[in-house]
Amino acid sequence: MYEKHLAWGVLFRIFHWAFALSIVFLVVTGLYIHFPWTNSVIEGSRSFPMAEMRYIHFIAAYCFMGAVFLRIFLWFFGNRQEKFWDSAPITGRNIRNLFSTITYYLYIKDEHDRRLGHNCLAGTVYIVTIVIAFFQILSGLYLLFPESTFWQGVGLSIFGTQQQARFYHFLTMWYFLIFVLIHLYILIWNDIRDPEGLISSIFCGKKFFEKGALDNK
Ligand code: HEM
Ligand code: HEM
Repeated sequence: MYEKHLAWGVLFRIFHWAFALSIVFLVVTGLYIHFPWTNSVIEGSRSFPMAEMRYIHFIAAYCFMGAVFLRIFLWFFGNRQEKFWDSAPITGRNIRNLFSTITYYLYIKDEHDRRLGHNCLAGTVYIVTIVIAFFQILSGLYLLFPESTFWQGVGLSIFGTQQQARFYHFLTMWYFLIFVLIHLYILIWNDIRDPEGLISSIFCGKKFFEKGALDNK
């Protein structure tokens, strides 16, 4: 007998897809800005590929910023699974779940605590990801508004010169690329091992559990 539970609200799913899709555009256009792959002779004659790529980068960047702020809002005002303290390693329940997940992922144990929200290992990585995204926004806004004294103050104190900030901005892109690869691998691995409908939950919000299997404490 399986029970159906709502894990993710609508705002959370909107955040997820705004974040995921904007990252695809940001990485592609960012790579172009870093290493333009078209012939520079056409720039300003037949078309403006760099200007267009930068324009798309900035539109995606505003979508990305909206998603990150929405996620931070949900840390405090989302449903139980979406809240910061449901998955951060700051309570006894979460720390026990962290070790239970690690032993399960290392094939040391066959069983692990079932919970409706993220397991604590995933939750911790997601929190780190949002913090890194926040710094990516700061370096991006510093690069975007080099003439603003406010962003000069923020940028110079955190990243140093414009060129250093651009380099950190570029390096951080690799974090997101590697995150996506591991994210997709672990999602598919979990979806095969546990019949709870993990992947479909990010579309419909619901997960499935055998009666009584859920750690609801
Ligand atoms: C086909 C593509 C994708 C699918 C099916 C998918 C699915 C999911 C699922 C099921 C979760 C919840 C997992 C859990 O409970 O631990 C999740 C969370 C998350 N995904 Fe994805 N994802 C996809 C692509 C991406 C991409 C491209 C990114 C961007 C880097 C991304 C970023 C995230 C983040 C940050 C979270 C955590 C949300 C939070 O609690 O803060 N995902 N995803
Ligand atoms: C996951 C998010 C992001 C990724 C992966 C990303 C990636 C990149 C990359 C690879 C570059 C080229 C850096 C170089 O020349 O070496 C770049 C440039 C830039 N990005 Fe981002 N970016 C992201 C978010 C943002 C955000 C939120 C903003 C804020 C507005 C932003 C604004 C800029 C600006 C202004 C530049 C410089 C453009 C230029 O030099 O003409 N980016 N980005």
